Amino acid sequence: MMHPQDTSAPRLTTTAGAPVADNQNSLSAGDRGPVLIQDWQLIEKLAHQNRERIPERVVHAKGWGAHGSLRVTGDISHLTCASVLQPGTETPMIARFSTVAGETGAADHERDVRGFALKFYTEEGNWDLVGNNTPVFFVRDPLKFPDFIHTQKRHPRTNLRSPTAMWDFWSLSPESLHQVTMLFSDRGLPISPMHMNGYGSHTYSLWNENGERVWVKFHFKTRQGHRHYTNAEAEKVIGETREGYQEALFGAIEAGEFPQWTVKIQVMTEAEANALPFNPFDLTKVWPHADFPLIEIGVFELNRNPDNYFAEVELLAFSPSNVVRGIGHSPDRMLQGRIFAYADAHRYRLGTHYEALPVNRPQCPVHHYHKDGAMRFFDNASSPDAYYEPNSFGGPRQDSAFSEPPLDLQGPAARFDHRDGNDDFSQPRALFLLFDDGQRNRLYANIADAMRGVPDGIAERQIRLFSHVHPDYGDGVCSALDALDPQF
Ligand code: NDP
Ligand code: HEM
Repeated sequence: MMHPQDTSAPRLTTTAGAPVADNQNSLSAGDRGPVLIQDWQLIEKLAHQNRERIPERVVHAKGWGAHGSLRVTGDISHLTCASVLQPGTETPMIARFSTVAGETGAADHERDVRGFALKFYTEEGNWDLVGNNTPVFFVRDPLKFPDFIHTQKRHPRTNLRSPTAMWDFWSLSPESLHQVTMLFSDRGLPISPMHMNGYGSHTYSLWNENGERVWVKFHFKTRQGHRHYTNAEAEKVIGETREGYQEALFGAIEAGEFPQWTVKIQVMTEAEANALPFNPFDLTKVWPHADFPLIEIGVFELNRNPDNYFAEVELLAFSPSNVVRGIGHSPDRMLQGRIFAYADAHRYRLGTHYEALPVNRPQCPVHHYHKDGAMRFFDNASSPDAYYEPNSFGGPRQDSAFSEPPLDLQGPAARFDHRDGNDDFSQPRALFLLFDDGQRNRLYANIADAMRGVPDGIAERQIRLFSHVHPDYGDGVCSALDALDPQF
């Protein structure tokens, strides 16, 4: 068959740049004979295909991303010297939304927590806020994160998701009640990434030129409104498309309907933190709005689709360790676990110099002394002789103007029992009391649905926890379980 000739198309080349004469027919010994091993173009093509996949993210494997910008409309310059948070500043960014448990091919409309990860390319380095669509999390100690994730992934023998494992773990971990209640409430199944809030979730810090620090929580409020599916609606949608979020986000941006989120913060002084009846660094708790009101500081908009999903979304690497001058971490121990885990995951998933990939590369000068390894394709820092530090050849130097104010830490090093005396019930109760009858009934039904096949002892232990939150909660789940069709 003749190959269509288009004279305006660029000439096909090998990866080494040599023009390709024939991209249709392998080199063979005779018209009917086998291909020859010297057909290196065939071999290169097959070999490249074998390497088209990289390991998927160990969690949050299925995701949807878009570019945009953050505009600061409020003035919190008294709280932070971060250039990105100064009034009127506009900063390019990229967002990636995700589900947690499903693999890369999972259906988008599954009930799950949604990842809400933002990378801001500030003039003083990348700031990553790697949050979720919920303000709290299932566990409060990073030692429990791998156990928790194992319960969400596949069972080692059946290779199926295991409701028994999920409810066994949750019923033995009362700190999960708050997040479990959110997950099975209406907000556990948003119709698209545009119709949900985002939360930095952890307590972070802001610090100013005077070296004064406050604790802070970040909130991103959807301007599209909250919209959710019921389980039944989602089942129908998944029957029609497994890619509903990609279609919705990509489609909206292609159509010029750019989604926006209002950026707000809550602020707590160090003195207020010391006087608080609960640990302000506990990721299973929110800061009540009445005590710590939301302060509007800006808006972000997503307005450009990636041209190459793999290069711009699959190779995207976020890390809570990426903070910039004026923004810091906190004593939240989950956050400390994450400060380690992400860059470690990227070195495994993407390679040593993953931060040099275009989508991860800061949009400001970068000078460091990390040397060789995979993807070492960038220039020598400033002089080829300055490849160690200190040096006499004009190599990059530290700048103490960027020092974070010191933080007082005290007390014995020990493994403190994080469950000891911790109130795991009041805040889930406050959430439960926000729900009207319809929301409560859907909560009970969603939980019962997810408990199908779970041994009675585990279900009963979980119901005792729900009853402790509120007697109606436990009773409601019991009734919903009784109402389940025994055939399923
Ligand atoms: P408020 O009445 O001031 O705030 C209630 C919050 O609940 C709002 O932020 C609202 O979000 C959010 N909300 C409503 N429905 C749901 C749902 N189904 N799942 C998750 N969040 C929902 O009360 P408080 O600040 O005193 O908090 C009461 C409870 O509200 C908390 O225990 C917590 O469970 C929940 N909550 C609190 C947040 C906080 O930072 N204080 C943040 C999110 C939830 P929106 O404004 O977008 O409608
Ligand atoms: C992804 C670890 C808790 C939000 C990941 C990844 C790892 C990880 C290893 C995959 C990274 C990659 O390969 O790119 C952990 C650990 C945690 C923790 C060890 C606790 C100790 C949390 C919490 C949140 C969160 C509390 C939200 C508040 C996310 C998001 C992603 C992610 C949004 C996907 C980022 C993206 O879009 O690329 N996590 N995580 N994680 N995690 Fe966590």
